[in-house]
Amino acid sequence: MCGIVGYIGKGQAYPVLINGLNRLEYRGYDSAGVAMIPEKGTLNIYKAAGKVKQLEDSVKNCNIEGHVGIAHTRWATHGAPNKENAHPHCSMSGRLALVHNGIIENYGVLKDKLTEKGYVFSSTTDTEVLVQLIDYIYGAGDMSLVAAVQLALKEVIGAYAIAVIDRDNPDMIVAARKSSPLVIGMAEDGLYLASDATPIVEYTNKVIYLDDEEVACLNMDGTYRIVDLDNADCCHEAQTVAVNIGQLQKGGFPHFMIKEIFDQPECLADCMRGRVLKDMNKIVVSAVIENRDVLLNARRFIIVACGTSWHAGLIGKQLIEDFCRIPVEVEYASEFRYRNPVINEGDVVMAVSQSGETADTLAAIEMAKEKGAFIYGVCNVVGSSIARAADAGSYIHVGPEIGVASTKAFTGQVTVLTMIAMALAKEMGRADDGFMAKVIDELLSLPEKIKEVLAFDEYIKDIARIFTYVHNFIYLGRGYAFPVALEGALKLKEISYIHAEGYPAAEMKHGPIALIDSNMPVVVIATKTHLYDKVVSNVQEIKSRGGRILAVVTKGDTVIKNMADFCIEIPETMECMEPVVASIPLQLLAYHVAANKGLDVDRPRNLAKSVTVE
Ligand code: AGP
Ligand code: GLU
Repeated sequence: MCGIVGYIGKGQAYPVLINGLNRLEYRGYDSAGVAMIPEKGTLNIYKAAGKVKQLEDSVKNCNIEGHVGIAHTRWATHGAPNKENAHPHCSMSGRLALVHNGIIENYGVLKDKLTEKGYVFSSTTDTEVLVQLIDYIYGAGDMSLVAAVQLALKEVIGAYAIAVIDRDNPDMIVAARKSSPLVIGMAEDGLYLASDATPIVEYTNKVIYLDDEEVACLNMDGTYRIVDLDNADCCHEAQTVAVNIGQLQKGGFPHFMIKEIFDQPECLADCMRGRVLKDMNKIVVSAVIENRDVLLNARRFIIVACGTSWHAGLIGKQLIEDFCRIPVEVEYASEFRYRNPVINEGDVVMAVSQSGETADTLAAIEMAKEKGAFIYGVCNVVGSSIARAADAGSYIHVGPEIGVASTKAFTGQVTVLTMIAMALAKEMGRADDGFMAKVIDELLSLPEKIKEVLAFDEYIKDIARIFTYVHNFIYLGRGYAFPVALEGALKLKEISYIHAEGYPAAEMKHGPIALIDSNMPVVVIATKTHLYDKVVSNVQEIKSRGGRILAVVTKGDTVIKNMADFCIEIPETMECMEPVVASIPLQLLAYHVAANKGLDVDRPRNLAKSVTVE
């Protein structure tokens, strides 16, 4: 949620900042701003409600000079999304500018204290309290900005990633983090700062991920120092990031989402590379091998996740229970963390998260860790907070996902969970060579099968046209296809703003069937599984009540084809791998409906890519 960018060095800051804000747009935001110091004693702050483009337009005749600057896209938590509340916020003295991602929970108390001391506030954000507090401490004694930031942060309860610049000391940026991510990039021409590596990779691949309660001072001469809140030095080895710039561009597609849908064959091949080894008839998941005993001795697994990742978790449960016979619970991280869940030492808690920054998922694993659980992360973003907090984990390696609606990360998560389940099953002696060979062949054929489904894009586009202006949708599936139905409904809701519900097909009779009439489109995943005949009956029940049926069927199906209004054929695969193939047409359907409506597909209203606030 929201984005921070900073630059200090030989080049001009403004182009780096704007470019960076554009790169971070995918995270979701409602206003934007920049601050630069053109010369000692002058601080220029420009802000605008709305998109980065509006900010750019608003600075056309302004002084945008400066070799040091910070910038921000805001996703409002405290105060309306308007220009006044946009960051950077300036201290009352006019000396400091600060950008912040997160929430200062005790801002009310701090604000009262500062008001007593004569501070006047010009916004209604929690963030402004922080810049005034740092200013107050900074002005009160002979101390460095780093020391003032350290003292201020000791007063703060909440989550933050911040960057501060000082009008009277333009040779440094001070940054800090707790629970919100911050990455430093080191290049020849200067130092870069951002919420994730996407704005940095075009300048350098050498980065450092700050840890919680660390403060970094980035200097104009290219040196930097990282300390904790008590000023003890923190050692970090620079890491190499492997994002290629093409992954951050639309590559000829109108939206990132459709590009990411079409990228899936290649992404899944990347995800399986070096893990699914046909020659050796093996699936090698290094974290499973390294933690074999912990995983095999676990009495149960608990998967915690949110949104789409939670749907992937539901599929993971079926995989692990089916093939390993280990009991698995799947929990919404936001519920789990605030219940008093039973977690025993030796339980394995798996966090599934594309961004690796979802606040609820992160808090859930921190709680579980305290209670003695072993934490296994399944993340996409390398170096993300969840990946680092976990005891072990597997990256999904599908490259940066920019569209807010998750597509390739979902199929990547399901693929990784499949590999984990199969690798574990093998270790447990539950998978013989013949079975492994079949699984490996099926996994390796997934990219080709997805390509076959992608070839129906035009047909799905035509279907989408028919359903563009309906108000409701129902998605049905059973077994492995039930989470696919939930995910299909979520995709449609989040980008097309059409109300959609996913149900297990057999649950219809227990209430939702009352909704069926000729205005209700029903998407049914009705592939040839062991539940096929049951699903046929469910489809019949909807048909008899006039529902319009769009069925996803196995290639060659004739029975459902005779009942459904529209059919999309997908190639046959093992039942447990069908979620990967069957979700593709549902992603395309949601995309085309939203695109037909002319909506901002990549940045749907009210949503953020990574939900770093609870
Ligand atoms: C996906 O389309 C959603 N935008 C959302 O539900 C997302 O899956 C959820 O916020 C979890 O994010 P994470 O995977 O980064 O933890
Ligand atoms: N809580 C801050 C605000 O509302 C920061 C929000 C964000 O992370 O963008 O301004």
